[in-house]
Amino acid sequence: MSEPTGATRRRGPFQVGDQVQLTDPKGRHYTFTLQAGNQFHTHKGAFPHDELIGAPEGTVVRTTGNVPYLALRPLLPDYVLSMPRGAAVIYPKDAGQILAMADIFAGARVVEAGVGSGALSTYLLRAVGDTGLLASYERRQDFADIAKNNVERYFGGPHPAWKLTVGDLQDNLVEADVDRVILDMLAPWECLDVASKALVPGGLICCYVATTTQMSKTVEALRDHGTFTEPQAWETMVRTWHLEGLAVRPDHRMIGHTGFLLTSRRLADGVEPPLRRRRPAKGAYGEEYDAATPEQSLQERAAARAAAARGTAVTEAPEPESGQDS
Ligand SMILES: C[S@@+](CC[C@H](N)C(=O)[O-])C[C@H]1O[C@@H](n2cnc3c(N)ncnc32)[C@H](O)[C@@H]1O
Repeated sequence: MSEPTGATRRRGPFQVGDQVQLTDPKGRHYTFTLQAGNQFHTHKGAFPHDELIGAPEGTVVRTTGNVPYLALRPLLPDYVLSMPRGAAVIYPKDAGQILAMADIFAGARVVEAGVGSGALSTYLLRAVGDTGLLASYERRQDFADIAKNNVERYFGGPHPAWKLTVGDLQDNLVEADVDRVILDMLAPWECLDVASKALVPGGLICCYVATTTQMSKTVEALRDHGTFTEPQAWETMVRTWHLEGLAVRPDHRMIGHTGFLLTSRRLADGVEPPLRRRRPAKGAYGEEYDAATPEQSLQERAAARAAAARGTAVTEAPEPESGQDS
């Protein structure tokens, strides 16, 4: 059986064309592509690439200045953080959450927009594998070019599951029977119609947004749409640790904010989302709230939104149903 695309470049002795990540004695990383006859130069001397070709990963090479460098292949999180960027990339902690919580499976049909630098595309392609589909949409040609180079450099050539389209998702999406739609963009609410049409019943939409205002707008648009389940939202924070003798403690610095994740499932056609039974917190739908309330039917919600947009009185909402706090 042939190996999945890119797998032969992930193991075995170093080969020409492999990415190599060097670590210097201070823990700094340097990444380059192995080429016969080339030299790697540092400010403390050089060494020939040929010394690494055929050597096992985890080899230590010494420069002409006798400085040791540890050589390993970069892991995917290392690769995406060091590759050339157009747009900001999704951090590995969030990419991991997306793969797990959006339930990306081998053979899945996934639509993704925007592509940016191709970081998430690379994770998604590894997860769907050669028999899946990743249809990626990016509105900027220059970003699409950067992403294509990054993805193909990682896999050592084109990936059979990848289809990259330049253009806005909302104007270009052609795939049907899609299992997952992943949106990393400024305005995911603009893409809900096409996402809903493309998704199979039970399919999942996952939005990655940077601000609470984007999150709120996306949540309300998902509720208003009427074809999605009640959305779930969360964020993650990762704290790395300092490990030195008795000083074993969290590092003083951390990345405090990257983005929020939102997921929701596609309902079967013609099904109205069930009413949420949870009693809203006092004030959640108070005087200053100018959108629809959970108790309103889809028609009432649409009317309430239209009234709010016109700046006129919002349709009177029925008294909230009393329910059990969960
Ligand atoms: C933050 S970047 C995506 C980064 C990417 N997920 C990664 O990991 O490298 C957002 C991208 O979405 C693109 N974009 C925004 N709205 C879009 C739309 N409606 N359709 C397609 N691409 C869009 C932007 O041009 C930008 O490149």
